[in-house]
Amino acid sequence: MSLPPASMLESDYRVQSPAVAERFRKLRERPVVLSVEHLGKEFEGEGGPVTALRDVSFEVRRREFLCVIGPSGCGKSTLIRMVAGLDYPTAGRMLLDGREVSGPGPDRGMVFQGYTLFPWLNVTRNVMFGLEMQGMSRDQAEAEARQWIDLVGLSRFEKTYPAQLSGGMKQRTALARALAANPRILLMDEPFGALDAQTRAQMQTHLLEIWRNVDVTILFITHDLDEAILLADRILVLKANPGEVQEVIEVPVPRPRSWRR
Ligand SMILES: Nc1ncnc2c1ncn2[C@@H]1O[C@H](COP(=O)(O)OP(=O)(O)O)[C@@H](O)[C@H]1O
Ligand SMILES: [Mg+2]
Repeated sequence: MSLPPASMLESDYRVQSPAVAERFRKLRERPVVLSVEHLGKEFEGEGGPVTALRDVSFEVRRREFLCVIGPSGCGKSTLIRMVAGLDYPTAGRMLLDGREVSGPGPDRGMVFQGYTLFPWLNVTRNVMFGLEMQGMSRDQAEAEARQWIDLVGLSRFEKTYPAQLSGGMKQRTALARALAANPRILLMDEPFGALDAQTRAQMQTHLLEIWRNVDVTILFITHDLDEAILLADRILVLKANPGEVQEVIEVPVPRPRSWRR
């Protein structure tokens, strides 16, 4: 399956083949995992309050891959940080499995561009960390971690420390760590943004493969439309100043998808 260029979305993306329409009909039948309702965020700026986000509403359904796209400064990171519970909204609310989000929790896994690994822990210990925090015994956490490290293709690097890992391998470790905690939703803020083009393409393909095999819902931030078209079921388009929902696109490209012809 080859990907159409991003420009196809300018013309005929609302036309869906019967198979694609059926896929979205089924998606809409799944339970809602994350519900964002009239979310707003104001920051105190030097010249008065700055509205970063205004009246943002959307839902993410079980096992959906939702990409949020928008220009720099439109509030993408602010949005995902609030879902992560790292910042609080000044209007509206977010429900995860029907419960209001009011702080961080193990039900959300995070892979952020600058979300660093513990440099003093090797790959295995980094992945085990959250599991032990949740009260799992060391042996069990290690066994559990090993499976996730295997899944992200890092078995040969279990004892390696972050400083010796490439950027792609660091993000694989971060992904294993996030998935190991069995989160309800995986939150990814431009996770591959700092990687070179080839590694980024590998990581995108790898993430799609993992998503196919693991029962997890993904909220993925990007500013790259091609990346969003490759990955997403739906794309939430934000516009800037203030950050508002411009459009929600149902990506009409069949799966499986890849960059190669
Ligand atoms: N802690 C903060 N204090 C004040 N303004 C902020 C803060 N964080 C973000 N902003 C502002 O909110 C807007 C959205 O930022 P951000 O969410 O980082 O955008 P994006 O991730 O889409 O590039 C920007 O105008 C930014 O300057
Ligand atoms: Mg950002």
